[in-house]
Amino acid sequence: HSKMVKICCIGAGYVGGPTMAVIALKCPDIQVAVVDISVPRITAWNSDTLPIYEPGLDDVVKQCRGKNLFFSTEVEKHVCEADIVFVSVNTPTKTRGLGAGKAADLTYWESAARMIADVSKSDKIVVEKSTVPVKTAEAIEKILTHNSKGINFQILSNPEFLAEGTAVQDLFHPDRVLIGGRETPGGEKAIATLKSVYAHWVPDHNIITTNLWSAELSKLAANAFLAQRISSVNAMSALCEATGANVNQVAYAVGKDTRIGPKFLNASVGFGGSCFQKDILNLVYICECNGLPEVAEYWKQVIKINDYQKSRFVNRVVASMFNTVSNKKIAILGFAFKKDTGDTRETPAIDVCKGLLGDKACVSIYDPQVTEDQIQRDLTLNKFDWDHPIHLQPMSPTAVKQVTVVWDAYEATKDAHAVCILTEWDEFKNLDYKRIYDGMQKPAFIFDGRNVVDLEKVREIGFICYSIGKPLDAWLKDMPAVA
Ligand code: NAI
Repeated sequence: HSKMVKICCIGAGYVGGPTMAVIALKCPDIQVAVVDISVPRITAWNSDTLPIYEPGLDDVVKQCRGKNLFFSTEVEKHVCEADIVFVSVNTPTKTRGLGAGKAADLTYWESAARMIADVSKSDKIVVEKSTVPVKTAEAIEKILTHNSKGINFQILSNPEFLAEGTAVQDLFHPDRVLIGGRETPGGEKAIATLKSVYAHWVPDHNIITTNLWSAELSKLAANAFLAQRISSVNAMSALCEATGANVNQVAYAVGKDTRIGPKFLNASVGFGGSCFQKDILNLVYICECNGLPEVAEYWKQVIKINDYQKSRFVNRVVASMFNTVSNKKIAILGFAFKKDTGDTRETPAIDVCKGLLGDKACVSIYDPQVTEDQIQRDLTLNKFDWDHPIHLQPMSPTAVKQVTVVWDAYEATKDAHAVCILTEWDEFKNLDYKRIYDGMQKPAFIFDGRNVVDLEKVREIGFICYSIGKPLDAWLKDMPAVA
């Protein structure tokens, strides 16, 4: 009988951790090692407090950890032993040099590939799990084959489509698993091997196989389409406010068309997360490099509308409050980029808070999953710097003095002039808004960036309430914000 297949995943982050935990759970016959150079991350994966918050993840990890799922910093040892090596390291936007502010920084990927080439003693399938620019596999192949001592490496592209906040469910029931490989006998054999891993729980018709470049590009394309949907509905939200239309009603009516579909049409203060912006910038850069400026320009607009939506929100807040928030306390409810995650990477809350701080506001922030340390770090870092290794290490930034972080929504809103809701946490729907109103300065404002509150109810309590894409009340109409 054949020996047990061994998988190693380089990168124990938001993707590597949950993905490998689910593979281990669904494939008891496979041994899975998740490795990372970050000691604190691996320590956390081996503790009771996992390094990321994701509903259902604790349970999956508890069921397999120590059986066929291992977290380790012994990167080389586990890579050497593995038959299949997933690479799930970060691929942030370059901050300097050629393509700065746009191109993907493949430093981490390249060093992982070189390490694989150095330590391997047997044939391996190397799987791109990270989102990479189309054609990356070609570069990786060169690194691997150039250094190899007659070892056969097969490169596959197997991009991950999970969404944070629902990662475990998404991994249990993926819309599709995508595997791209070389159209050679060796490539096809590698595809079949990886497919047999997913076949443990994913139905055959949901596993798509393509050539390498299609798989790599499909991930960038999928994120571009998803982000485009949000920017489309957000662009409409601005027009709704100007005309008295209600964006919820418009989105519902539009989404009823089966060609469009009802999902992912919520207007908001803007999209965030580690992927959408970085992947679109990367797509834009690739288009430019391929002599396609019109295509590049088209996708760039998705990010421009997102930036517009965030600054439009800040302008609305300031304009409504007599054009100044200087020394006013503003409560920020929610800092994570969406509900059910503690992830703050590229969260719109960063830009909104920075905008308000720029106008000298004092902000008091509450998020059920984000620590004060994280928030202070996010508000002191420069754009694009957050995903580069020096910042992965804990450091003590000079705290922004106008910022306080509290562990309770009522504490955050006490004596505040305004409340900004920036994450759609379920608990914000059920807050006692009467109690909040009574504790606030008057006039009391709510700026709802996520369509969380019951507008009619809070207006009845006495709040002046702005909700994205909804008809404005008289006060807001009298204080027009310049976008
Ligand atoms: P992450 O930053 O949470 O995890 C990456 C990990 O790789 C870090 O823990 C880092 O220490 C480690 N690492 C970097 N270089 C290494 C090396 N040479 N050896 C060992 N470990 C190394 O990133 P995340 O969010 O897991 O994303 C990883 C990739 O997956 C990115 O390309 C991202 O675009 C893609 N992706 C992310 C999704 C998400 O929702 N976060 C969804 C789908 C794809």
